[in-house]
Amino acid sequence: MSEIANTFTLDGQIVQFTPGQTILEAALDAGLYIPHLCFNPELKPHGSCKLCTVIVNGRSGSACTIKAMPGQEVQSSTPELDGRRRLQLQMIFVEGNHFCPGCEKSGNCKLQAVAYDLEMLNPHFPHFFPERPIDASHPDVMIDFNRCILCEQCVQTSRDVDGKNIFALAGRGMKSHLVINSPSGKLGDTDFALTDKAAHVCPVGAILEKRVGYAKPIGERKYDEQTIREQIAADAEGGL
Ligand code: SF4
Ligand code: FES
Repeated sequence: MSEIANTFTLDGQIVQFTPGQTILEAALDAGLYIPHLCFNPELKPHGSCKLCTVIVNGRSGSACTIKAMPGQEVQSSTPELDGRRRLQLQMIFVEGNHFCPGCEKSGNCKLQAVAYDLEMLNPHFPHFFPERPIDASHPDVMIDFNRCILCEQCVQTSRDVDGKNIFALAGRGMKSHLVINSPSGKLGDTDFALTDKAAHVCPVGAILEKRVGYAKPIGERKYDEQTIREQIAADAEGGL
């Protein structure tokens, strides 16, 4: 069979791409869901969560960093890959304190939405129960570091979009953690503002605007009516 220019197959379906796009970008544009967490279309791929791992021509790699090429055969939706993704999610959940029943991001949280989609039913591993102090020093925004998944979206956005460089990751491996670039290490001692884009990029309940929590009734939150997978398909349809 002759190849159609600028297409690859994803789980047997033909996907058209624009040269320069990654496999994940092309799939999402086509309304096809590949699980992902640290990817943000407005930022450089970070490649940290590994949820978007796919098999491309027999080798595994991150769909958010691999460029789409004509004729690639990509597998994403397989029991094996989904099993690995569930394990990855379980590790993320036990590393932090993700007690969704008391978190104001519940229903609007990408980590939770991906876990629902992949039918993660339990944490499997022992909980770490970290005890990182909460930073409520800023008048409009608070940070619960125990929910941070180190996706770096706030770091990149503050540095590259807002031009402020408020956040950074420090430490290595298990000791990696988010820090605030101020002499005291407190957010209240920076020029961070609610109007900064970085105040609104956190995909989980780590960076939160104060005084607006629990405003949306259950049933009307972002992922209540449509799953993350259904939203990707609907967004692509709307964009056609
Ligand atoms: S605070 Fe949020 S946006 Fe920043 S690194 Fe942690 S999870 Fe990502
Ligand atoms: S979305 Fe690709 S590694 Fe996180």
